[in-house]
Amino acid sequence: MNSQVWWRDAAIYQVYPRSFRDSNGDGEGDLQGVIEGLPYLADLGVDAIWLSPFYKSPNKDGGYDVSDPRDVDPRFGTLDDAAELIGAAHSRGLKLIVDIVPNHFSSEHEWFKEAIGSPRGSAARSRFHFYDGRGENGELPPNNWISVFRGPAWTRTPDGQWYLHLFDSSQPDLNWKNPDVSADFEKTLRFWLDLGVDGFRIDVAHGGAKDNILIDHPNPERLIDALRLDFLDISETERAGLLADVPFFDREGVHEIYRKWRAVLDEYSGDRMTVAEAFVYPSSRAARYVRPGELNQVFNFNFMMLGWDAAAMRASIEKTLAELIDVQAPATWVLNNHDTPRVVTRIGGARKARALAMLTHSLPGGIYIYQGEELGLPSVDLPDEARQDPAFIRSGGSDKGRDECRVPIPWIASEPNYGYGTGNPWLPQPDTWAQFAMDVEAQDPTSSLTLYKESLKLRHTHPALGGEGVLTWIDAPHGVMHFTREPGLEVVVNTLDTDVSMEVKGKSFLLQSASGSLLQDGVLTISANTTIWLQR
Ligand code: GLC
Repeated sequence: MNSQVWWRDAAIYQVYPRSFRDSNGDGEGDLQGVIEGLPYLADLGVDAIWLSPFYKSPNKDGGYDVSDPRDVDPRFGTLDDAAELIGAAHSRGLKLIVDIVPNHFSSEHEWFKEAIGSPRGSAARSRFHFYDGRGENGELPPNNWISVFRGPAWTRTPDGQWYLHLFDSSQPDLNWKNPDVSADFEKTLRFWLDLGVDGFRIDVAHGGAKDNILIDHPNPERLIDALRLDFLDISETERAGLLADVPFFDREGVHEIYRKWRAVLDEYSGDRMTVAEAFVYPSSRAARYVRPGELNQVFNFNFMMLGWDAAAMRASIEKTLAELIDVQAPATWVLNNHDTPRVVTRIGGARKARALAMLTHSLPGGIYIYQGEELGLPSVDLPDEARQDPAFIRSGGSDKGRDECRVPIPWIASEPNYGYGTGNPWLPQPDTWAQFAMDVEAQDPTSSLTLYKESLKLRHTHPALGGEGVLTWIDAPHGVMHFTREPGLEVVVNTLDTDVSMEVKGKSFLLQSASGSLLQDGVLTISANTTIWLQR
């Protein structure tokens, strides 16, 4: 890390607590499990943890259906456990950020229960989006919007009104025009900041503001494509076209919310930060979330969506850096998360995933690592009976959902459930995962874990890595990326399935994503699908 402000170039590790480590044998991960995992994370060399939701929740959407944002769900532990975890992370030099979910609450939240029990037009209902339906007897939803998880975005209540939910019917959308909502979220921010968290990952940061609720989408068929969380093989421009028609995302009003949040965080010492989950296109729209006085980072989903293609990646890197320099924000590099296929599966194998990781670790700005990515875990093709994601359920199985990347991770090869915990894991682990267990990979100098440890260590010790310094491109053969980071580092990425030879005088190997390349008499022969860091 070379930045003065910790988050600008931090390596942040995402813990999805349900699948990280189960300390009490109930088959689900918990906060004490995260505490047990801290030595591993400190040794891995990350700077911070982003902890996905552990708040009170009926768990219809993996905890992103929050019924009390200021309390811990008993499945994960207690508030004391949360305080202990924050303290324990800090004492190991790790920062800790938590999720905040402003687009919706759970239908089990006391506000929603109150709203359901209150009449039309009541103050309790105005915290959400309740409307009468269309049709003769109000039997049709107020508009034609569909949910991100498929099916209508409206559910009818017993008294005939409808409420809006962009996600599952158990996740009613909040009405940010109601001052109760902003006041309550400010309370939640302060609650966790007072407890010592270092920042927030903002869920569906492009949701929240809805200023045209009764307007139909012009083409609901296209709405489905715009909302898909999996990877359509389309360009950023096509994505932007799909999103431009969506009436409920990326509205101007969301920025007002985040300017207020920024002011709250700025009252606290210690560079508390925010990172936005904003699925918005083109990437210049994402940069608007990190303008001065708003949020700090935005996940770079445009880059994440790309295939293993040198020209496309280079263009995206250049565009990202230029757009973010304009707003003085650092870039982020993300390869996967709890909503997407794992990078090994998405990109076409472990070898490419390692090369891609080393590329992103060498770019200016911060990186995010999703738990198990460092082990090279693939997505898991689960039997349908095991799947629990509402996207699978609501789509009638046509969308396989996101369970494939949420399978509990392997710790110790020889233990039951690979040391994740003694209880039956909430999603089944494949029989083939002993090879990926941390204890196995820690002993293997050629493992993915060893590579991540080495590259993260170099990010701390090498003066050219991390930071936000300049990246200078060097002309390279087709399919190869070549650039310098000063002082003294050169990065070469071969995305082809064949070796490539090129002149690189006066350099030596610093780190390689795979073995097999040669450096002799000023000529580098870089193996297929490999990234190499060279020292000048
Ligand atoms: C975000 C979360 C995802 C969740 C959705 C609704 O996209 O990352 O897991 O289902 O928001 O809260």
